[in-house]
Amino acid sequence: MSAPLARRWRVLPGGTVSGTFTVPGDKSISHRALMLAALAEGQTHITGFLAGEDCLATARALAALGVRIERPAATEVWVHGQGAAGLSAPTQPLDMGNAGTGMRLMMGVLAPQPFDSTLIGDASLMRRPMERVAAPLRRMGARITTQEGRPPIRIQGTPQLNGIEYTLPVASAQVKSALLLAGLSARGRTAVSEPAPSRDHTERMLRNFGVQLSQRDGVIELEGGQTLHGTTLAVPADFSSAAFFLVAGALAAERALRLTNIGINPTRTGLLELLQLMGAEIRVLARPTTSGHNAEPVADIEVRRGPLQGITVPERLVPLAIDELPVFFIAAAAAHGETFVRGAAELRVKESDRLAAVAAGLGMLGVEHELLADGLRIRGRPEFAGGHIDSLGDHRIAMAFAVAALRASAPIEIDDVSNVSTSFPGFEECARRAGLRLTAL
Ligand code: S3P
Repeated sequence: MSAPLARRWRVLPGGTVSGTFTVPGDKSISHRALMLAALAEGQTHITGFLAGEDCLATARALAALGVRIERPAATEVWVHGQGAAGLSAPTQPLDMGNAGTGMRLMMGVLAPQPFDSTLIGDASLMRRPMERVAAPLRRMGARITTQEGRPPIRIQGTPQLNGIEYTLPVASAQVKSALLLAGLSARGRTAVSEPAPSRDHTERMLRNFGVQLSQRDGVIELEGGQTLHGTTLAVPADFSSAAFFLVAGALAAERALRLTNIGINPTRTGLLELLQLMGAEIRVLARPTTSGHNAEPVADIEVRRGPLQGITVPERLVPLAIDELPVFFIAAAAAHGETFVRGAAELRVKESDRLAAVAAGLGMLGVEHELLADGLRIRGRPEFAGGHIDSLGDHRIAMAFAVAALRASAPIEIDDVSNVSTSFPGFEECARRAGLRLTAL
């Protein structure tokens, strides 16, 4: 276990970053690996697992449903699959912590069970919208109540769900995945249509577990009643965690900064394109993968400091960079000229209202900006002021503003950083190793 994270950071201004290192395992993939393995027949061996609080909450929830999970090392997991009908009723509400992915995907797992269950979470998760998953699941026959659209989620298990055809109103991998998970045990065919591509880890991984699924013209379809078979999974390092160092490198790597074994699934790497559009010097060195098109592609990524130019973000890249936008906004704040992002209203319903959180932080650092209903306009400047940033308990806001210190003229203090352990245990050590002058207070 890594040391518990401090509540506050002080990051001294300036400095450079360099070195070769990796970051912890992918959060999205680790959640899915646990859940699919639990529903499979036989054992699944997972390496590269993210031992972050979000995924540990999912592991605890599955254990409370009777799944035996062994963790011989922090990042290595054996799941003893129970089969689709093998889960047992929990004796208490399942606490998903800070994890939106954990809660929404578990709704898909729990809706078709023969028992009732309740999902709860921390203060941030209890504020997040859940009807986006509950409503289509009800159309499949599920019986789910939310509290004015938010958790607690009360599920009356309904073993005979029916497959549906559903068009997602917004690109959301969580909603898509919850419906596919419910569809696995529903009668007939479930078809989910996406308005724009969202991360496809569930689709790739289902195939690894032996499920037949088709993906054509933005429609993902599967037949209910298929058996999942235990397998082995190697989780790549999380691109979303690497993102903080990609931006750090673009701002302050005089010699190349190299990140190794990073997942580069094209549904996740919008930030690479955005930084390249800004003129950043980035090289992606693909690593060979073994298991064909189901495998998650992996690469080493090298980045160096160079002049960045403000851009208008193409809207198609927003869902492909959704979790990386907080740190992208820091790159924009350091770029020459103006950067303009629209179509990102989803950022308002993440672990915090990330548009408001970034706007408040940029204001503190003296960066001219305009907060829009669905985006931000940012005028870059060569150097930021220092000051106090409230992360609002949001891991990605905390890490993004730690990176901002590389271009600040005075220390940046960041409050409420303990949730960094939800996605990036060991961030402090990693950041210091790279060259950030970060002290836990
Ligand atoms: C995730 C999907 C995205 C992303 C989240 C993880 C996933 O959320 O923001 O951090 O693992 O499926 P939405 O599905 O709400 O877009």
